[in-house]
Amino acid sequence: MSEQERTLRDAVAKQASLGNRRSEFNNSAKKANIFCVTSGKGGVGKTCFSVNFALALAKCGKKVIIIDGDFGFSNVNIMLGKNAKYTLEHIVHGEKRLEDVMEECYPNVWYISGGSGVSELVKMRDDQMEKIIEQLGILEREMDYIIFDTGAGMNDNIMKMIHASDQAILITTPEPTSILDSYVVLKTASEEMPVGNVTAVINKAASEKEAVETFHNFSNVVHRYLKCDVDMLGFIPFDSRVPQAITAMVPYIVKYPGSAVAYQFQQIASRITNSHPEKKEGGLKNFILRLIRGRGNRNAG
Ligand SMILES: Nc1ncnc2c1ncn2[C@@H]1O[C@H](COP(=O)(O)OP(=O)(O)O)[C@@H](O)[C@H]1O
Ligand SMILES: [Mg+2]
Repeated sequence: MSEQERTLRDAVAKQASLGNRRSEFNNSAKKANIFCVTSGKGGVGKTCFSVNFALALAKCGKKVIIIDGDFGFSNVNIMLGKNAKYTLEHIVHGEKRLEDVMEECYPNVWYISGGSGVSELVKMRDDQMEKIIEQLGILEREMDYIIFDTGAGMNDNIMKMIHASDQAILITTPEPTSILDSYVVLKTASEEMPVGNVTAVINKAASEKEAVETFHNFSNVVHRYLKCDVDMLGFIPFDSRVPQAITAMVPYIVKYPGSAVAYQFQQIASRITNSHPEKKEGGLKNFILRLIRGRGNRNAG
């Protein structure tokens, strides 16, 4: 066989195997919903929400994975009371496989520590991507929901995450500064392109009335000035036992299953499981492409 023939044969074989993997990926029956939990400022309860929301979804019989995307101040592990040896970074670098990195912390709740993996995902070259997609594609088939807990603020990665996910969950408290910061997040995100599926959760609310009023003030301003609509996903009451649960390293709804806070988490979870949130085209593969390219799924195959 000539050198040229061999090269051609190798190229065809490589193409065929890529094609097989692609169709395997695309044919996956189940496709997880991808959520990103975000906020304008820190300390509003994103991580607390992500962890307890995941547990509440699991209680509804769903499989959930939390990916800690707050690489500077990762603390999902503290709230879950688990320590991860490896991070998403190890997958991005091809050093570990998904099954070495993900941990089942509670029945049907898994966790992957982000490390600096999320920002590396965003910078990834196309040739590294195929491997990651193959690995993370397993998640998409196995899980019902993938929750990215992000850091706070206006950085570029978070903006990309908001656009790339099926649904962005914006956590806000009734404090005027928190509402203003949430508005700025949406404003910044919508400067790039229209923001689609955004829902809000009012956390640390003194009462349902306060939560609903906070939401209405927020959504009216958003509707008026940003011309976009935000739905209220729910609210979580303020409860001084939340920090205590964190100190005890036991998720709140595990420690206090009969509380008003746990009830609201369960309400939110059943709202999600009953509503079949809209999924963006192309699933996780396009999610990653949108993260890398910071725009729609135009270039996704
Ligand atoms: N519903 C709540 N009631 C009382 N305290 C809360 C509530 N939700 C969160 N907290 C507290 O707020 C602080 C910040 O929560 P955290 O989830 O780490 O915020 P973020 O991830 O947005 O920075 C923690 O000390 C937590 O105990
Ligand atoms: Mg956090």
